[in-house]
Amino acid sequence: MGTGVDRIKGASAPSVVESSRSPRLKAGGEIPSLSPQRYPEPDLIHRSFDHDLTMKPAQPRRAFLATVAAATAATVLPWTGCKPSEGGAAGAAGADTIKVGEFCSLTGTEATFGVSSHEGTVLAIEEINKAGGVLGKQLQLLHEDNRSTAGESVTIVKKFISRDKVVAVLGEVASGRSLEAGPVCQAAGIPMISPSSTNPKVTEVGDCVFRVCFTDPFQGRLIAEFARKSLKLSRVAVFSDVSSAYGDGLRQYFSDAFTAAGGQIVVQQKYSSKDKDFKAQLTAIKATNPEGICVPGYYNEVGLIIKQARELGITVPMFGGDGWEAPELIQIAGGEALKNTYYSTHFSPIQDTPEAKLFVAAYKARYQGKTPDAMAALGYDSAKVLADAIRRAGSAEPTKIKAALVTTDLVAASGRTRMDAQRNAPKAAVIITVENGQFKFVQTVEP
Ligand code: PHE
Repeated sequence: MGTGVDRIKGASAPSVVESSRSPRLKAGGEIPSLSPQRYPEPDLIHRSFDHDLTMKPAQPRRAFLATVAAATAATVLPWTGCKPSEGGAAGAAGADTIKVGEFCSLTGTEATFGVSSHEGTVLAIEEINKAGGVLGKQLQLLHEDNRSTAGESVTIVKKFISRDKVVAVLGEVASGRSLEAGPVCQAAGIPMISPSSTNPKVTEVGDCVFRVCFTDPFQGRLIAEFARKSLKLSRVAVFSDVSSAYGDGLRQYFSDAFTAAGGQIVVQQKYSSKDKDFKAQLTAIKATNPEGICVPGYYNEVGLIIKQARELGITVPMFGGDGWEAPELIQIAGGEALKNTYYSTHFSPIQDTPEAKLFVAAYKARYQGKTPDAMAALGYDSAKVLADAIRRAGSAEPTKIKAALVTTDLVAASGRTRMDAQRNAPKAAVIITVENGQFKFVQTVEP
């Protein structure tokens, strides 16, 4: 039986790769999965999977889950103290395991980012281990919650490296926190793979830092083009989160691209993470009568901004990037306020590639029918990319893993992942809108 990684690697034959790079999505397809309370269950959930990602219809789901639970107990350590001796069977696994550290925001302001990404990572690690591990060893995932707080990630990653002797680090979703941890990994020569941080500076830290997603210069450009060509906007306002590296970077890349495409930024307003009242800035924006508003930021504030904008009678299109992605966006803003809003992201669960379908079904089976979002897909892919690099390197030595990561070419949940010269992974983006309180796919944008 081939491993999950082998199976996915095999799928990078040219014909399959092409289809993976151009996800076949029907415009207007509804994404019920991302809505807050609804997780409708297609029959896929009742099928089960072998961890080599091959359909095994005969295996009952309960047995599958029991197997997964056993694999989890043996190899994934959900703890907060991060002591190698904790976690029962995991401690006993000792030197026979390859230790990987994952830092993520499981609680705090961007909790849905960390939870989704972590769930994807855990699923990938379980699949890899169930299929025999890597180089004959099980992967042992140590993970720790940074509580969405500045400064925590550095402490966590230092512990992973000096005390736990991890061979690689996975994390984070938010660019600001990846930017904190990157220099620690770089100084120690430990490869770090960010699943979904898009600010270009994240990988500029040095040759130990990789990502499995696109970057914000691309994202800013595609949002600008969508605003110009599809929404036909000429005069827009920008209202951005200046407290995050992500929000501030995306503001710049969007503004440059929109202006270069012949558009005009009529007003620029700022806010900070954890702000709750945006009416003063929105009133100033309204006074300039823009045709649309770009809001580069994260879902908590974005949800409130959209809600308050509509309350002020601002009806023009509002749009942003991947930071909008969370079921909470709909809960906070309300479906009605989200009419005429759009955001770009990395993955849609209705993406019609074999790898995406298998991932969505496996994730649903693993997490009680929950449908994965972009962070889950990229968290999954980050672990698959790491395992693939260790296997190709023939060694779990950090320097050898780092060298192998450079030549990554793997088709997984979010599409084909290859590293460019800056260790970024150019990939297609998807644009999502909200209709009747549901996220809906609009279009794919190729790099
Ligand atoms: N790209 C965002 C950042 O760099 C994080 C993010 C990724 C948010 C994917 C949502 C979905 O901070």
